[in-house]
Amino acid sequence: MLSRYMDNQPEHKNTSFTLPDKAQLMRLDKYIASCTGMTRKDVKKALKKSPAFVAGEKVSAPETQVDIKTKVVFMGEHLHYSEFTYILMNKAAGYVCTNRAGRNPTVFSLLGDDVKAKELFTVGRLDKDTTGLLLITNDGDFSHRMIHAKKHVDKTYYLTVDTPIPVEAVEKFKIGVDIGDDEPTKPATLEILTETSANLTICEGRFHQVKRMMETVDCTVTTLKRLSIGPFTLDESLAEGEYRFFNDREMEFVKKRSPDFRTPNVHFLP
Ligand code: URA
Repeated sequence: MLSRYMDNQPEHKNTSFTLPDKAQLMRLDKYIASCTGMTRKDVKKALKKSPAFVAGEKVSAPETQVDIKTKVVFMGEHLHYSEFTYILMNKAAGYVCTNRAGRNPTVFSLLGDDVKAKELFTVGRLDKDTTGLLLITNDGDFSHRMIHAKKHVDKTYYLTVDTPIPVEAVEKFKIGVDIGDDEPTKPATLEILTETSANLTICEGRFHQVKRMMETVDCTVTTLKRLSIGPFTLDESLAEGEYRFFNDREMEFVKKRSPDFRTPNVHFLP
């Protein structure tokens, strides 16, 4: 993958670049560390073997000053500098989404030390036994756009239950069901896959919502995995408990700050 970026690139000898007005400068190793979650020590080692491409020029000196708006390609990836951190995790069962240390390990304990220091929080919560897509960030505005009730962002879950799912559940969920809150649930889409498994898409994020909805049709959820939130989809290449930073397409979405991420069928595939 790297060779694509390395062919015919001139070796850059200087340790600074000509800067446009109002450049925001940062050392290259710090820049790469903040974009990738690697330690600066590891970045320095990696740069010796795999120089970065800064505005198309090969650079291996970690002290090189780069403008944060410059295009930087490292290990074949176009990096995106952001004051905020955006992480996509495949949550493992047994971990809780709270920031407070308690009896159970938190999802934050799965993160590398450099990332842990960033005052992160989860975008909504998953139950301890739920697996699948979890977004983690320190960008409050992004989180708000994804989970605020008024935004109606679709979330799709794959679920299995203990007894056959009645077909009437499809219609019931389309209309909305009483799960004991002030209001019935908003219209949801149930796609029955087998007798005891289904995908359920909801646009709210009430406490234990999927489990409580399935209880209304006398089914107890035995496994629950989140597959998507709005345009973000679970990266199946991540094992449970693994995470990665947002890729180019996902960052484009964050940057656009588009209000319209409800559009059905618009999903970023990993
Ligand atoms: N609904 C649930 O019941 N649990 C989750 O973790 C998420 C949605």
